[in-house]
Amino acid sequence: MHVLVAYGSKMGGTKGIAEMVGAELESSGAHVDVMPARTVREIASYDAIVVGGALYSTRWHKDARWFVKRYKRALASMPVWLFSSGPLDDSASKQDIPPVRLVKNVMRQSHARGHVTFGGRISADAKGFPAAAMAKEKAGDWRDPDRVRMWAKQVAEDLHAG
Ligand SMILES: Cc1cc2nc3c(=O)[nH]c(=O)nc-3n(C[C@H](O)[C@H](O)[C@H](O)COP(=O)(O)O)c2cc1C
Repeated sequence: MHVLVAYGSKMGGTKGIAEMVGAELESSGAHVDVMPARTVREIASYDAIVVGGALYSTRWHKDARWFVKRYKRALASMPVWLFSSGPLDDSASKQDIPPVRLVKNVMRQSHARGHVTFGGRISADAKGFPAAAMAKEKAGDWRDPDRVRMWAKQVAEDLHAG
C-alpha cells in the first residue's frame, strides 16, 4: 500500500500535521510519501491520497488548491481523505468544523472518504502582515497530536479494509 500525504503550508504547522499523519500510516504498514503539494509530479503510482491545507482567510493554502485542481480527474477514482488546519483556539478539538467551500466541492468531486479540521499554530515571532498582528493576540499551538493520530488511525483502518 503506497500512500501520498500532500500538504499546503506556509508557516510549517500543516506540514507538521502531514508528518504526524504519515507516521501513523507508516506504523500501520503503509509505505508513505509526505510532500509539499506543489512538488508532486504524479499520483498514479499511489493507492490512496491524503491532502491537507492550511486555512488562510477561509481558503485552503494555494498549493493544496493547485494540487486538487491539477489532479482532479485522477482523484475522482482513488481513495481520498482531506484535512484542514486551522483555528487558533480549541474549537477544532471541541467540535467538528466543516470544510470551507472549495474543500466541500473537492470532497464531492473526489468522493472523498473523509475530512477533518484540526487546530492550527502561529508562533509568537510570525513575520509579515497580518500574521505578526495575529500572533500578538493568538500565538500558540492548537494542533492536538492525539486527535491527528486518532484520525490517521481511522484512515489506516479504512484503507486496509479496502
Ligand atoms: C493571515 C492569516 C489568516 C488566517 N485565516 C484563517 C482562517 O480563515 N481560518 C482558520 O481556521 N485559520 C486561519 N488562520 C490560522 C492558520 O490557518 C494557522 O496559523 C495554521 O496553522 C497555519 O498553517 P501553516 O503553519 O501550515 O501555514 C490564519 C492565519 C493567518 C496568519
